[in-house]
Amino acid sequence: MATNAVTFLLASFLTASSLVVSGRSNQFQDFDITWGDGHAKILDDGNTLSLSLDTYSGSGIQSKHSYLFGKFDMQLKLVPGNSAGTVTALYLSSDGPYHDEIDFEFLGNLSGDPYTVHTNVYTQGKGEREQQFRLWFDPTADFHNYSILWTHETIVLSVDEMPVREFKNLERKGVPFPKQQPMRLYSSIWNADEWATRGGRVKTDWSQAPFTAEYRGYNAEAEWRSEMLDQYDEDKLRWVQDNYMIYDYCSDGNRFPQGLPQECTA
Ligand SMILES: *[C@@H]1O[C@H](CO)[C@@H](O)[C@H](O)[C@H]1NC(C)=O
Ligand SMILES: *[C@@H]1O[C@H](CO)[C@@H](O)[C@H](O)[C@H]1NC(C)=O
Repeated sequence: MATNAVTFLLASFLTASSLVVSGRSNQFQDFDITWGDGHAKILDDGNTLSLSLDTYSGSGIQSKHSYLFGKFDMQLKLVPGNSAGTVTALYLSSDGPYHDEIDFEFLGNLSGDPYTVHTNVYTQGKGEREQQFRLWFDPTADFHNYSILWTHETIVLSVDEMPVREFKNLERKGVPFPKQQPMRLYSSIWNADEWATRGGRVKTDWSQAPFTAEYRGYNAEAEWRSEMLDQYDEDKLRWVQDNYMIYDYCSDGNRFPQGLPQECTA
């Protein structure tokens, strides 16, 4: 019995650790389709992916490997036309109740109205760190690059090489930072018309279905070297935040009567 248990534990340990990858990956074949049978399509020898939503189902994928730090790039062309009520998400997440998560969520809109890019960072199960942005281009007209950089020192979300958000490692000030739980990369499209567009007032127009987001240029690089934003990147980040940020939890004092979260004032 005891030997069996040890063997079992050892086997689980080996399986779990072999899933944490330290190389690179650039094929959608490195993903599993997790839901939306037939609504997620990996095409073109693994070079492109499409995720669709209709009245029957949304769809989603997850990376086969887990990563502890890395840089994740995806080219994405969002649902065109009237996409109100739909949400397309690209995020890293670990498992379990105290999970870590780094999110990009694209909230659709009526034709001609701008998408909202919603971002969040969860550490040890706690989020409430939303920042939202507009984009400086039409994300449905062409493919654009969306990246998540996750190192020991910092997390940076970028759009076409422009950093839009940084979450620094401020553990020395008592702010938890994701660094122990391996994460997988996920993407999905679903109906969120109870909240996504103008607080849920605009509903999904199902006569426009299927709603399809297209993906290509996937690249994941398990990256152990430290990387910080240099002054040039800090300037770009400030430019985006000054001109395109539409919500910042750190400026929402009403939400935090006990005082702003520590990272906001650190
Ligand atoms: C996205 O990245 C790829 C690869 O680095 C590059 O060829 C392409 O021009 C980029 N697209 C945009 C819109 O910046
Ligand atoms: C949709 O467009 C309206 C009008 O410009 C804007 O107020 C809203 O923030 C946009 N985005 C969402 C997700 O509702």
